[in-house]
Amino acid sequence: MSNSISIYIHIPFCKSKCIYCDFVSFPNCEKFFDTYLEKVKQEIDYHASKLKNRNVKTIFIGGGTPSLLGGEDIFNLVTFVLQKFSVSKQAEITIEVNPESFTKEKALWWKKAGINRLSFGLQSDDDIVLKKLGRIHNFSQFQNAVKEAKSLGFSNISADVLLGLPNQTPQKIRQTLRKIAKLGLAHISAYGLQVEKGTKLFELIKNEQIKLPDEDLSNEIYNSAYLELKELGFHRYEISNFSKKGFECQHNQNYWVRGEFLGIGAGAYGFIDGAHYENTSNLVDYIKKDYVPQNIEKESKKTKMEETIMLALRTEKGLNISNFNKTFNIDFCEKFKPALDKLSQQKLIKITKNHIKITNFSISNAIILQFFMLID
Ligand SMILES: C[S@@+](CC[C@H](N)C(=O)[O-])C[C@H]1O[C@@H](n2cnc3c(N)ncnc32)[C@H](O)[C@@H]1O
Ligand code: SF4
Repeated sequence: MSNSISIYIHIPFCKSKCIYCDFVSFPNCEKFFDTYLEKVKQEIDYHASKLKNRNVKTIFIGGGTPSLLGGEDIFNLVTFVLQKFSVSKQAEITIEVNPESFTKEKALWWKKAGINRLSFGLQSDDDIVLKKLGRIHNFSQFQNAVKEAKSLGFSNISADVLLGLPNQTPQKIRQTLRKIAKLGLAHISAYGLQVEKGTKLFELIKNEQIKLPDEDLSNEIYNSAYLELKELGFHRYEISNFSKKGFECQHNQNYWVRGEFLGIGAGAYGFIDGAHYENTSNLVDYIKKDYVPQNIEKESKKTKMEETIMLALRTEKGLNISNFNKTFNIDFCEKFKPALDKLSQQKLIKITKNHIKITNFSISNAIILQFFMLID
């Protein structure tokens, strides 16, 4: 087993809550910032004492809104991780940034801390749509922040956009992507908007106060985004992730090959020594109680197989057949023959010497399901 790991640190604070968001994030919690960071350090200590010989390849500070915290706080946090773990010199260190909370001063602290990748949450270039979504920034704040970050020497900058937004069309998403690519981004994540129960968006849709593109239009929007990004020089390396060559997100790639990772902070989860654990998402509990990983669950063979297939088939490389056979000690082509025959006949997958790849990512869930149905 490889001795390298990734570290994810969750900052569960936001200025306000977006209507579609069901991530662990709390608005109006400034009073908890300091105690939370102390607790996060305690958790880092806990894991560091147990994982002495591991080499950290990537660190990802996500949220929530990590850019809401002071620059020096982020500097101290990263420095603490560097002191407690052996972190490789070329480690990719990312921070998620919301455009409205970006400042030059914070960015200078991030740089000093060794952060070398910024991931901006943009979502849309349309200020009216941003407002509808409950976002508190506009497009020009994003443009200015990216320009400033570049002038400070950040070259690995990513932006998240959402697909399937109200009034979005294939033409509009192409315009959006052209506009943001002009800023010289290295990476773009384009996520299909998920409507989660318990969010304001869910209620608005139920009450017919907001309408999203239907499935066919959403597929067209995805395919247009893919084609536009390809023309702009961004290659797809996973269903939702596109980058200039050499700027693929290493942190996410570790998840997709089921590499080990620590999840630190309220609501974070990790995967170490073949077991998943999950931290409480109750902020007060996380802050008050002594840290011990909870809900430790050794994964079953079924879950492991499903996860391996799903994550691999969502990547551009596809599933590596010989690796799969070695891991599970079975013959993939024999076990999944009915799905392979059906899907290749329909030209929905491509089978090469050692890989199976999806050819139509806009219906990937239905394709992956064909494999799941054969797992007992
Ligand atoms: C959890 S957020 C954190 C980043 C930052 N707070 C922000 O919103 O800009 C990371 C990304 O997840 C994506 N995301 C959040 N909620 C989503 C949803 N319901 N469906 C699809 N993508 C979502 C957004 O693109 C967002 O940039
Ligand atoms: S800023 Fe990001 S994490 Fe916070 S509520 Fe909005 S989508 Fe969720």
